[in-house]
Amino acid sequence: MTVNTSVLDVQGFNLHINEHHILKDINLSFYRKKVTAIMGPSGCGKSTLVRSMNRLNDLISGVRMDGGMYLYKKNLLEMNPILVRRKVGMVFQRPNPFPTMSIYDNVLSGYYLNGIKLTKAEKEEIVVDSLEKAALWDEVKNGLHRKGTFLSGGQQQRLCIARALAMKPKILLLDEPTSALDPKATTRIEELIIELKSKVTIIMVTHNIGQASRISDMTAFLYLGELIEYDCTDTIFTTPKHTRTEEYLTRKFG
Ligand SMILES: Nc1ncnc2c1ncn2[C@@H]1O[C@H](COP(=O)(O)OP(=O)(O)OP(=O)(O)O)[C@@H](O)[C@H]1O
Ligand SMILES: [Mg+2]
Repeated sequence: MTVNTSVLDVQGFNLHINEHHILKDINLSFYRKKVTAIMGPSGCGKSTLVRSMNRLNDLISGVRMDGGMYLYKKNLLEMNPILVRRKVGMVFQRPNPFPTMSIYDNVLSGYYLNGIKLTKAEKEEIVVDSLEKAALWDEVKNGLHRKGTFLSGGQQQRLCIARALAMKPKILLLDEPTSALDPKATTRIEELIIELKSKVTIIMVTHNIGQASRISDMTAFLYLGELIEYDCTDTIFTTPKHTRTEEYLTRKFG
């Protein structure tokens, strides 16, 4: 087995919204058990790219996509979006547990929304396993029936990670998962991401250069909708090939 088995291959991917060409001929592969950081200045298309992997752009009026996003060789752009979202989980910038649901039900909400029936024993197993994987179990085990919104911001974000992991996804997308959190909660999530990569392929949008260098194996740099550079994080940070990448990393812009 090679280390670099790709889980997702983006090939010739273009996305237009009306006359705006937002993502331009994107080609890149995401590797199994790796953390890939997606970086680039505001408005370059990072969120649009990861949202496409979760089929969240389908509903935007005037959107047009072409090319492929092959999840284990199957184009997810042609799959049932509900199925895509089971295989590709997503966590957003602001923690967004369902406010009316308990911690327990939040973890299981993907199953409820998909109409999947579970026995009580199956539910308990999924809840414990997902909260343990999200490093939240010890903090919530005595209050699983409290509302998720009682938790701190960092705990809520780990609950959202647990909710995504509960569906046993192949890929976990994180769009600036710590930008609304304080430094301590951020460190906790960074440690968690490093732990999780042995279980799930992680694609993370981040503006935080230190964060990308601490936790990602690969880094993709986008600029104005184009993939400028994609390489091992060490290489990108020490010897970037493109001046745009270097300028961004040395904070000349962005
Ligand atoms: N629904 C939409 N309708 C029209 N244009 C959009 C829409 N969503 C995004 N865009 C445009 O697409 C481009 C890419 O936006 P996107 O949100 O992907 O950028 P980003 O790299 O995630 O930025 P940030 O770092 O600020 O989050 C921007 O020019 C934005 O204005
Ligand atoms: Mg964004």
